[in-house]
Formats: sequence, C-alpha cells, structure tokens
Amino acid sequence: MGGTTEYAGNFVPGDECVVSFFDSFVLTKQEGSIHMGNTTREDIVQQLEQVLREAQTTLAQANNSEQIQAWHSEYLGRKGQLTGILRNLGSLAPEERPQVGKVANDIKVTLEAELQARQEAIAQAALEAMRRAESVDITLPGRPQTPGKLHITTRTLRDIYMIFAEMGFQIYESPEVETDEYNFQLLNMPPGHPARDMWDTFYTTTPGLLLRTHTSPGQVHAMRQYAPEPIRVIVPGKVYRYEQVTARSESMFNQVEGLAIGKHVTFSDLKGVLMNYANQMYGEGRVARFRKSYFPFTEPSVEMDIDCVICNGKGCPICKYSGWLEILGAGMVHPLVLQYNGYDPGEFSGFAFGMGPERMALQKYGIDDIRYFYSNDARMLERV
Ligand code: PHE
Repeated sequence: MGGTTEYAGNFVPGDECVVSFFDSFVLTKQEGSIHMGNTTREDIVQQLEQVLREAQTTLAQANNSEQIQAWHSEYLGRKGQLTGILRNLGSLAPEERPQVGKVANDIKVTLEAELQARQEAIAQAALEAMRRAESVDITLPGRPQTPGKLHITTRTLRDIYMIFAEMGFQIYESPEVETDEYNFQLLNMPPGHPARDMWDTFYTTTPGLLLRTHTSPGQVHAMRQYAPEPIRVIVPGKVYRYEQVTARSESMFNQVEGLAIGKHVTFSDLKGVLMNYANQMYGEGRVARFRKSYFPFTEPSVEMDIDCVICNGKGCPICKYSGWLEILGAGMVHPLVLQYNGYDPGEFSGFAFGMGPERMALQKYGIDDIRYFYSNDARMLERV
C-alpha cells in the first residue's frame, strides 16, 4: 500500500529507527514547519489514543476501496493524523521520545492489522454479493429441449441410398442447371418433340440454359464419363417444373434416377432390382405391377405400382380407392440414348428408373399435401 513501507521503518520499535524518525523531525523543525511548544508526553499519548479510536470507528464504516484509500491517507498516510501528531515529539524531552514513539508504533501496527482485516472483509462481502447475484436456482424445473430431426425428404433419400448401395449402386452427382441438350436432346427429345410438353421448366436468360426437369440428364453425364465401362449409379437431386403448385405437385422436388449399363442387362434385372427395392422400402411381401408407359429415353417403358401401403390394396383416399400406388417410371435405355452417349447398342444394354422421394414419403406416411414438404412448418417433422 502506497506510503506504508516508506514510513514503516520509522515506527518499528528499536532505538535506531526511532532516532531516524527524530532526525527527520529535526529537519522539519529547522525548515520552520509546525512546532508546538509545551506539549507533554501525556498530551501526545492522549492524542494518539484518540486518533486510534477515531480511526477504528471510521474504518468500521468503510465499505469500498475508495473509502479505504481515503481512510489510509487520513490516518496512516504521509500527511495523515498519526504523522501529524508525531511531528510534535520534538517538544518532548529526549528520553521521553522513544516511549511515545513506541506507543505510536503500536498504534500504527494495530491500525494496519485492522485495515487488512477490513479490506479482506470488504472483498469477501463483494464476492458474496456477486455470488448471490449470479446464483442459479437449481430447484427450478429445466426448460424442455426439443431435439432436432431430419426432414422426411432427407430420411427418405437416405433410406433409398442404403437400399441401392447394397445392390452395388453408387451415388452420382449431376448439376441442377442444365443445357437443353442434356435435359432433352441427348435423351432422345429433339427440339419440337411433343414429349417436351410434359417437362416444361424454368429457363435462364442464357439461351439453352435451364433448370433440369428430371434427374435423367444425370444418365447422360454418367454415360459420357464412363463409356464404355459398365455403370451402376443412382442420381439423386432437386428438379424443377413450371407447373401450378397444388396438393399433388410442387415446382421443385427431388428425384432419384437409377441407371445400370452393361452387356446382357435385361428387363428381368430391372424388375428384380425394383422388387427388392420395394420390399426393403415398404416392407416384405409387397405386390407390384408394371404398367406399360412411354418415355422418349426408354424402350419399352413402364410405370411401377405397389399395393397401397395404407390400406393394403383395399382402397383408401391415399390410393384414390384404386388399391395401387404409383411409385416410379422405368424402362430399358433407348438404343439411341446409348448411341448418343458412347455405348454401342448392339453390344450394350441398360435399364433406367426415376422416382420421387417426396411422393413416396407422402404415400408411406399418409401425408395429404406435398406443399407441407417445403413450407417450413416444424410440425411436419413430427409426422414420422
Ligand atoms: N425422368 C422421368 C420423369 O421425370 C422418369 C424416368 C426416369 C423414366 C428414368 C424412365 C427412366 O418422369
């Protein structure tokens, strides 16, 4: 603490120290500062004791470090009361001085000890106050935590990946922004082809650049990358359609494309893969049927239905009382598509399929409106 050490020597009992105090006193006297004549030893001791009492009372009232600081300079500091009184020692007889010096020193030692105790008490109280202010009531009931959940689409996609991975299909990524060539032409839909009407899309301001309407251009990318190697991939991702948004159709949704190419790949392989998929996805013992269909990039083309998972084929609103749910479109890769993309149709054959995970989740969980998928209503996550 400032000033204390400087003076400590002067007050420590022992003649040498006391003498040094008087030396400085004599100096002061010669400089002509305070000198009171006729002061007795009793007077000084009395003054000292009074200062002690007063200092003790004031100290007990000090509550913070500013007040402590002020107290220190008032009583123990260089210009403090204790020092002030001791300046008068010069008026005492030389033999009296050490005795009074000892009293003064004892008082100083006492006050310093009390000062330290008071400082500790203040610090303790401050800590206590802080602890009380920051304390937590551990008896309060906790706030319920709502753990996050994966979106139904994500879960459905992951289920699909798992099932096809077991059959040796790799995930192949393909862009969402496509050219007219990849989205249509290389899939056997030249400009003006009537089938294009089924896949109207959003166009960019760059001519010929559009948002893909299906994951089928992923077939083209895979074939062009791997030809003439055999292929077994699935192509998941978002697709876009210029369509009125209704309970049954969105303008953005997911598809998972499948493509297998090799020598002697047959329609039976397609059926086997899709039946295995249906049993794993919807449960063992599903009944499936293949209806003839048309896609420009497959020949023959089919649509695959399974017996309704909600009513087991009896008829309900989800299957529109038909007993069947349409789950995907498929077929044998059209010879022209093989040829356009690097495979000799005389040597190679392949199958392809395309399914919509949201549509499948609708059916599996009995959700009645596809718009819930992207409307960001968290209650949707509670459905499964
Ligand atoms: N691309 C088709 C669609 O969007 C689905 C499909 C994919 C059909 C692959 C046959 C083969 O409807």
